[in-house]
This record gives sequence, structure tokens and C-alpha cells, in this order.
Amino acid sequence: MPSPTSGAIVLDSQAFELLSQLICARFGLLYTAETAYLIERRLQQRLEVNGIASFSDYYQLLTDPAQPLSRRDRELQEIFELLSTRETYFFRESYQLDAFREVLLPQLHHKRPRGQQLSVWSAGCASGEEPYSIAVEIIESGLFDGWNVRIIGSDLSNQALHAAVQGIYGPSSFRQTDPSRHNRYFRPLTGRWQIIESVRRMCTFVRLNLIEDDFSSVGGPFDAIFCRNVIIYFDRSERQRLIERLSNKLAPGGYLFLGHAESLLDGNTPLGIAHLGRELVYRKPS
Ligand SMILES: C[S@@+](CC[C@H](N)C(=O)[O-])C[C@H]1O[C@@H](n2cnc3c(N)ncnc32)[C@H](O)[C@@H]1O
Repeated sequence: MPSPTSGAIVLDSQAFELLSQLICARFGLLYTAETAYLIERRLQQRLEVNGIASFSDYYQLLTDPAQPLSRRDRELQEIFELLSTRETYFFRESYQLDAFREVLLPQLHHKRPRGQQLSVWSAGCASGEEPYSIAVEIIESGLFDGWNVRIIGSDLSNQALHAAVQGIYGPSSFRQTDPSRHNRYFRPLTGRWQIIESVRRMCTFVRLNLIEDDFSSVGGPFDAIFCRNVIIYFDRSERQRLIERLSNKLAPGGYLFLGHAESLLDGNTPLGIAHLGRELVYRKPS
């Protein structure tokens, strides 16, 4: 269990069990005894704001049916903002995006599975770098002028979605962006850079909890879903359930891109493994 910093409220093992189960059930995020210190450290400020002296009392606040549901939900949202990892940058894991542009997009253009319509979902899009990168890849394929191209970015973090809609970024978002793309797709804005309007218009952002919400608000079916660097933080059974639900949103023959460190090989999956150039991705049977 964590060792508290001086003056901090201690998260004892009983309160940790209760809180971690609640966090997992509501958001899918997995905490173990080794990572309990993250809950202890990051949620201190919520106890202070609410004038609460122990983590057990805080759990009571979150689950007490006498508290209005809106208050409990607001507090849970605060927890999510403090606990979720929203690290991202443009053209992350670019070898996958290269395979998307060089292999998958020409296939979709050629087969036109749903007429001149292309739909992509970035599930867990954080501050928008991933969906905007996907939009740039689609533009640079040069194949989809005149098509109805739809890119949806979804996340549960209000802070991330606000940044995504603004589309304004600092240097850390560009750690893997080559200068020619930087110049072509961004314009300087008060020391930072904003994504250009034509790329911004290709992307729509939706607030969605991947664990609790049904997926009707994102539409679909999708030719490709990117859910990268999201399930790595999830409990195993929530991972499995999410993959099944995502695969329901794929068009027949549609592709699922996971992060490099994420694999479905340890569980049952409705998806097969497919080669996209030299990349291994997951594919829904046609
Ligand atoms: C590390 S970021 C990955 C961003 C991007 N996909 C990438 O690969 O760069 C993970 C994102 O998943 C989101 N996320 C985590 N749990 C979620 C949930 N239950 N519902 C919706 N979004 C969630 C987080 O808010 C965060 O923005």
C-alpha cells in the first residue's frame, strides 16, 4: 500500500478495494496494490475540495443514494479527469498510419464497400492528435476527394475534448511530426499551432464512456476503428467486453488498430489477425 506524504490523507486497503472496484466498474481503469498510490496522490485534492477527512467517507459520498445523482456523476467525472492518462501526439506509432494510408485506404477506395463513404472512429482520442493525424493520412492518400469522409473522435475526458475541438497544440504534440507536414497542416497561433480548418472540418468529437455508454452516438458502421493506448489501462474482462462491442461497430471486413503494446492474443476475440503490409492488425470477418 502507498506511503503517504506528510499531511496527506492515507488510503487504507479497505478504502482502496472499494474505490478501485468503483473506478474499474465505471471507467474500466485497473488499479492494483502497486498502483494504489496513484489514487491516493491524485484524489487528495478532491477530499480537500469536498471537506472530507477519509477515503472511506469519500467513497460514501460517491455511492450514497441520498446524494443527488448529478452530484455523484460530477464527482466521478472529476476523478476521471485526475486519473486518466491522456498522453498523445501527432502521427504516433506512424508505421501503423503508414500501413493505413498505403495499404488499407487504396483497398477501401478500390472496393468501395459502402459506396463513396469512408468512416473512421478514433475511440479514446484524447486531445485530438490521433483523429487529425488520420485525417491528414486520408488527405495525403489523394484518393477520397468528393467522398463522404467521416472521422469521429470520442473520449470521456472533458478537458481532452475541449482541447480536441480547439485544435491548438504545443511542441510536445509534434515530437514525431515532420516539418513539411507541420507547415502544411498547422498555422501558428500565439506561440502554438492550430490545425487548419480543412482538416478540422473532417473530424467530429463526441463525449463517450467506452465502458458504460452504448455506442449509438458515434454512428457507424466503421471501415476502421483506432483504439490505441486505451485498453492497456483496462481490467482484462473490460478489455474483452470492449473489443466485442467495438467489433460490433465495424463494417464487415473492417479493421481494428490497437496500440503497439496491446494485443488480443490472450483472449477470445471475434476478430481475426490480418496483415496490412508489414503491420499486424485485427479484422472483422467479411
Ligand atoms: C493514452 S490516451 C491515448 C490517445 C490516443 N488514442 C493515442 O494513442 O495517442 C488514452 C485515452 O483514453 C481515454 N479513456 C480512458 N478510459 C476511457 C473510457 N472509459 N471511456 C472513454 N475514454 C477513455 C482517456 O481519457 C485518454 O484520453
